[in-house]
Amino acid sequence: MRPKVSVFIAVSLDGFIARNDGALDWLDQANAGAAADEDTGYAAFIAMIDVLVMGRHTYEKVLGFGQWPYGRLRVIVLSTTGVTIPEAIRQTVECSKEDPRSLLERLDKEGCRHVYVDGGITIQAFLAGRLVDDLTITTLPVLLGSGKPLFGDLGRDIWLAHQHTKVFDSGFVQTRYCVRDTQH
Ligand SMILES: NC(=O)c1ccc[n+]([C@@H]2O[C@H](COP(=O)([O-])OP(=O)(O)OC[C@H]3O[C@@H](n4cnc5c(N)ncnc54)[C@H](OP(=O)(O)O)[C@@H]3O)[C@@H](O)[C@H]2O)c1
Repeated sequence: MRPKVSVFIAVSLDGFIARNDGALDWLDQANAGAAADEDTGYAAFIAMIDVLVMGRHTYEKVLGFGQWPYGRLRVIVLSTTGVTIPEAIRQTVECSKEDPRSLLERLDKEGCRHVYVDGGITIQAFLAGRLVDDLTITTLPVLLGSGKPLFGDLGRDIWLAHQHTKVFDSGFVQTRYCVRDTQH
């Protein structure tokens, strides 16, 4: 058994989650143009999460924001090279080099029920392992031309079941899919 694994991410229409250098200016620009009360469901989603698993690149980007946005939520940073964890967040943030399946098996034994996976390379690793249960993808009305892709090689097709699509006044289009052939 393993915890439920969810993806909740914003992507450009052409499939990128960041520019090649990691920049998110396009995401900030899109959010700045959206109404303040436009609720894409992130707060409700994160409230259900026991553990956030993110890749090193995402962690380093978030650290650069200056303010850690995850409060008391347990965060596991995947990295083979290691990361520096500032004192202020050491109680909630840890680093692991476990493969996705081993990590989920450990988290299951620790009582974790719902994991949020973030970062392109990291999401791709969990998808390739058939370890993602659902994806909520908010597509922003912008073409970046190049950048860090959300999806990559899988080994074999992954079929999804469409759950719902919501169109926001900002032009954001949020679609939720469940993965059909996930492994437990
Ligand atoms: N648009 C959005 O909503 C959104 C959401 C999240 C992130 N982002 C952006 O996307 C960018 C980061 O994405 P990314 O695709 O470059 O990378 P990422 O998934 O954040 O990080 C990749 C790194 O994570 C480590 N890693 C991943 N899987 C691992 C495993 N199974 N075992 C050990 N280490 C593992 C590796 O670090 P080592 O090299 O140390 O081994 C790998 O190089 C950032 O710019 C971030 O801000 C955007």
